[in-house]
Amino acid sequence: MPVLAVETSCDETSVAVVRDGAILSNVVSSQIALHTEYGGVVPELAAREHLRNFPSVARTALAQAGVSAADIDAVAATQGPGLPTALLVGFKAAQAIAFALRKPFIGINHHEAHLYSPWIGDFAGFQPNVSLIVSGGHTILARVESLFHHHVLGSTLDDAAGECFDKTGKLIGLPYPAGPEIDKLAEHGDPKAFDFPRPLINDAGDDFSFSGLKTSVRYFLRDNPGLMNDGKKIRDLCAGIQAAIVDVLVAKTIRAAERTGAGCVTASGGVTCNRVLRRELEDACGKNGFALRLAENKFCTDNAAMIGILAERKFLSGVTATPLDAEIEPGMAL
Ligand code: KG4
Ligand code: ZN
Repeated sequence: MPVLAVETSCDETSVAVVRDGAILSNVVSSQIALHTEYGGVVPELAAREHLRNFPSVARTALAQAGVSAADIDAVAATQGPGLPTALLVGFKAAQAIAFALRKPFIGINHHEAHLYSPWIGDFAGFQPNVSLIVSGGHTILARVESLFHHHVLGSTLDDAAGECFDKTGKLIGLPYPAGPEIDKLAEHGDPKAFDFPRPLINDAGDDFSFSGLKTSVRYFLRDNPGLMNDGKKIRDLCAGIQAAIVDVLVAKTIRAAERTGAGCVTASGGVTCNRVLRRELEDACGKNGFALRLAENKFCTDNAAMIGILAERKFLSGVTATPLDAEIEPGMAL
């Protein structure tokens, strides 16, 4: 059953076609260049850009998949969470397509799509796990007992991990989104040159907090103004910030896996592209005897393939269709 899937929760306009667990196409049109000049995503501009991009992205996704609209058996779209006006564009367009084609429609939780994205291509290998979802807007630890049975263990009390990368990077003068830039600069920096706090790392709970780290970088830069003229020190600073964020993410994920007896750890969301996070999770899982599933880089950042794959599995497991007059849920919980 070809499923047409749509994702517009933030600043990527994405349409995918999936069939029998395979991804026939996954077109992602990024708006990063548009938002960079504002230092972050401007919701109203994102929505207008989705409106502009959606028709051509949808047509390209169908063409690349080699299917016509008439071949589509079901339509899916991100229902929430996300930026309300951005969500609205893709969700309402997808409902209209389902209505026109007289096919079932399903609204998908964006976090749930991230949560199961590490299993794309191998749901047969699924294992119960503790899952880290780290993106620009969210940092969540979840326990997944079986497919579609999961609960949140903890989440961030303030800034998300990606937000911390982006905001500390902005303080250093890096363009939005700063996460990938910090990743690159940190490669040639010394993570031990500067020591930053690792908030809640020893706290027994599963919640995160990154705003204190951001503040400490702000004060550090205020107290070391000359540093910005020294390339080596900027690279050390990036490595130090990255190490602080990664240490917290890895320590808390491993502790949650130990405590819940999970045996397997997964990670997804944009920050999971970070090379040091991937490496540290591999090391820590290896030492602790946990299996590890990291979402492939192309499925870490927002994309419609993860929406379609989850929707197809839900259809096949008998989940009822979402009404065509259902509304977006910008604050939808996992
Ligand atoms: O999942 P995503 O595409 O969008 C949201 O749902 O938020 O994640 C975007 C976030 C941004 O904060 C970006 O800086 C971060 O992922 N990111 C990275 C890397 N690549 C993307 N952070 C650190 N290292 C990276 N390599
Ligand atoms: Zn996301």
